[in-house]
Amino acid sequence: MDQTPAVPIRDLKAHEGKTVRVEGWLLGRRSGKKLHFLQVRDGTGTVQAVAGIDDVGEEVFARAGAPGQEASLVVTGKVRVDARAPGGVELSLVDLREIGPSADYPLGKQSHGPDFLLSNRHLWLRSRRPAATLRVRDTVIRALRDFLHREGFVCVDAPMFTPNACEGTTTLFEVDYFEEQKAYLTQSGQLYMEAAAMALGKVYCLGPAFRAERSKTRKHLTEFWMLEPEMAFAGLDDVMRLVEALLAAVVQRVLEENRTDLATLERDVAKLEQVVPPFPRITYDEAAALLKDKSGFVYGNDFGAPDEEALAAGHSKPLMIHRWPHEVKAFYMRRDPSNERLALGVDVIAPEGYGEIVGGGERATDLAFLERQIAEHKLPKEAFEWYLDLRRYGSVPHAGFGMGIERTVAWICGLPHVREAIPFPRMLYRIYP
Ligand code: 4AD
Ligand code: MG
Repeated sequence: MDQTPAVPIRDLKAHEGKTVRVEGWLLGRRSGKKLHFLQVRDGTGTVQAVAGIDDVGEEVFARAGAPGQEASLVVTGKVRVDARAPGGVELSLVDLREIGPSADYPLGKQSHGPDFLLSNRHLWLRSRRPAATLRVRDTVIRALRDFLHREGFVCVDAPMFTPNACEGTTTLFEVDYFEEQKAYLTQSGQLYMEAAAMALGKVYCLGPAFRAERSKTRKHLTEFWMLEPEMAFAGLDDVMRLVEALLAAVVQRVLEENRTDLATLERDVAKLEQVVPPFPRITYDEAAALLKDKSGFVYGNDFGAPDEEALAAGHSKPLMIHRWPHEVKAFYMRRDPSNERLALGVDVIAPEGYGEIVGGGERATDLAFLERQIAEHKLPKEAFEWYLDLRRYGSVPHAGFGMGIERTVAWICGLPHVREAIPFPRMLYRIYP
C-alpha cells in the first residue's frame, strides 16, 4: 500500500517539502533529452511535475515520457515552492503510474470550431474555460440558495411534468403520458410556487425549465435552469428589491470566491464590481420613449435583442423595466390599479448586451379576472382549476420572479453564448452528447 498522502493540487502549498501523491490527468508535456515537464490537472488546479533522468533513473523517466494527453495518472513528487509557477508550487517527480491510457485525444493542441467542441462537450468540460465556468455556476447557485435561506425562504421543488402551460402555448413540449393522456414539460414552476407560498409564506424552486424555442440566438436554450422565488403578502416593489439584493449578493460572492476562474475567463472584473444596489428602474413607457426612432421598435411590442442592447447601453448595472402593456405579458399578471392597460411585471436587463436575465411581477388575485384571462388566452380551464382554487381559498397579494441561471452565469463570466453556461446544452439542433 502506498502510504503517501493524496493531496488536491489546490492544497499543495501547505505541503511544502513533503512527498505527496497527485491524482489527475495529463494536460501536456514538454520533454528534453534529460528532462520532462508534465502539466497535471486534477479539477482543483494545475501543477507542473519535473522529472530529471539523473534524479529518477531511466525506468521512471521512460514512464514519465509515455502517457498521452488526458491519460489519467498518479504522480508522486516532492512539493517545491516556486514563485514563478502557477499556484506557486512545483513537484519534483519521484514516481508516476498511468491509470487509464489516452491516445490521440480529440481536443489536441490545434484550435477547434464551436460545433466540434459542442459535439465533444463531454471532453471539452476538461478544458480550462469550461471548468472555470462550471465552478462559477456552482458559486452562483450556492450564493442564491444561501441568500434566500438567510431571508427566510423555503426551497420547494416544482414538478417537471405538468397538465398545463404557464408561459404561452407556443413553446410547450408535449409528451405522451400513459393511456392517451398528454403532459407537458414545465416552462416554469411559478404556478406551483404560488400554491407553496400560500402554505409557507416565502418559497423558491431551482430546477430545469423547458421551452420549445425555435430561436437560434445566443440567449436561448430548450432546457435551462431557473430560480423562482415567490412571496405571499408582497407586490411588484418587493420583487424589485429582492432581485436587486440577490443579484448584487451573487456577483459579490463570485468576486470573492472565483478570482482565478474569472482571470481564466479573461473577465473584466471592474465591470462586475459596479454591480451594487440601487439598480436603475424605469417603466416600459419610459423605455419606449428612449427607443423612439431607434432600431425599428414599435410601441406595444416586447423588446427585441437590439432594443435591450440599446436600453442597457450606458448602464453599468442591471436595468429594471416595470409596468408593461398587458398584451405582451402572461395571463397571470396583475393589472396596475392606476392604469388597467398595464401589467405589474418587471424584466431585468443585464449590462453588456446579455439581455433579459429576470422576468417576474405581481400576480392577479381576482378570481373573475383570472377566469376571463384564461378564456382570452384560450387556455383549457379544467387544467387550471387547482390554480383558481388559490384565489378561492384565502387569496392574498403575492409576487415573484424567475431568474435564468445560464443567462446570469453567461453575463457574470462574460461568455459569448448561454450554451457555455450549462454543462450539457440542449438547443434546437443539439441534444448530443
Ligand atoms: O420571463 P420568463 O419567461 O418568466 C417566467 O417563466 C415566469 N413564470 C417566472 C416567474 O415569475 N416565476 O423566464 C424567466 C427567465 C428569463 O428572464 C430568462 O432569464 C430565462 O428565464 N429564460 C431562458 N433562458 C434560457 N433559454 C430560454 N429559452 C429562456 N427562456 C427564459
Ligand atoms: Mg420574460
